[in-house]
Amino acid sequence: MAKSSLNVAVIGATGAVGDVFLRVAAERNFPFSSLKLLATARSAGKTLRYKDQEIVVEETSVEALKGADLVFCSATSAASREYAPIITKMGGVMIDDGSAFRMQANVPLVIPEVNGDDLEWHEGIISIPNCTTTPLAMALHAMRQVAPLRRVTVATYQATSGTGAAAVEELKSQLGAFGRGEPIPAASVYPHQIAMNVLPQVDVFGEDGYTAEEAKMRNETRKILHIDGLPFSATCARVPTVLGHAEAVHVEFEKDAPLDDIREALRNQPGLEIMDDPANSVYPMPLNTAGDDRAFVGRLRKDESTDHGIAFWCVTDNLRKGAATNAIQIAEELIRRGKI
Ligand SMILES: NC(=O)c1ccc[n+]([C@@H]2O[C@H](COP(=O)([O-])OP(=O)(O)OC[C@H]3O[C@@H](n4cnc5c(N)ncnc54)[C@H](OP(=O)(O)O)[C@@H]3O)[C@@H](O)[C@H]2O)c1
Repeated sequence: MAKSSLNVAVIGATGAVGDVFLRVAAERNFPFSSLKLLATARSAGKTLRYKDQEIVVEETSVEALKGADLVFCSATSAASREYAPIITKMGGVMIDDGSAFRMQANVPLVIPEVNGDDLEWHEGIISIPNCTTTPLAMALHAMRQVAPLRRVTVATYQATSGTGAAAVEELKSQLGAFGRGEPIPAASVYPHQIAMNVLPQVDVFGEDGYTAEEAKMRNETRKILHIDGLPFSATCARVPTVLGHAEAVHVEFEKDAPLDDIREALRNQPGLEIMDDPANSVYPMPLNTAGDDRAFVGRLRKDESTDHGIAFWCVTDNLRKGAATNAIQIAEELIRRGKI
């Protein structure tokens, strides 16, 4: 039986995504009948604001999750794995921001504007994609309306908030020390200093030389677009910004894909915005897209190095469409479809 007002719990409410989740839920007037904010024992007793209410954070536990119709989980893979079976056994639905279940066959991996129909077969767990996968899959989904995709290559420029609140603090303390002319504190979140640096490593390396982040982008894009084996290669880099992931993308199509048709397809893609006036230096950047729920595309041009190729640049607020907004849109779509 579909419910339109839900008992909701948020695991990871004190984190970088949890913070934005509360803001986005308030902006969209998400229909809560109750809202529990959960984290670890470290945060129990802290208060967080939702609209005009102060809500006390509780430690995540089976007891705290009792009665939840819907649980948003933005914590760690270990927490997702621990609580998912408990939540679903008690009849709740979990929308998971983490990577624990994304590639599991019975778990839909959803961007509502691209593959919302996959929500029809959920069995209690729904994953949101990695924050770099989401804007890319949205743009590719629009473009494949013009011509079938043959190959995708992408390089990312990812902000520190993508790693979580502790990474942002690491960048700030290193930049602060640099500004004061003091010795720069040693890295603890990242393998190297992030301030004034670019790290060609996001997550750990696999045996094939790709990082886990690069593998996630490839596998998740294939799953969302339902194109097994789409030729795909990513290089993911961490850059010393706070918010907003940028991507330089090259796409080859099976046949000619005129730029005007590509622009038209992008304009028709819900959730996506073209920002492309190079003559006036207008293109998406972390600073002019932060706080926006849309994915932005610019620098659209023919890729002259190949037949039927185009190149573009895209930027997205990783904590909004890359995480919290997408999770809330999934919940809204579940309600709309009567799937919760
Ligand atoms: N950051 C992004 O751009 C982004 C985008 C898409 C998806 N995600 C995913 O979202 C999740 C959260 O990321 P984040 O950036 O918000 O990380 P974060 O800032 O480090 O926050 C982690 C949150 O999880 C809580 N937590 C950690 N272990 C827990 C446990 N065992 N049980 C319950 N709560 C636990 C923490 O509570 P305490 O405060 O008490 O430690 C904190 O509230 C991750 O799975 C990440 O992969 C992040």
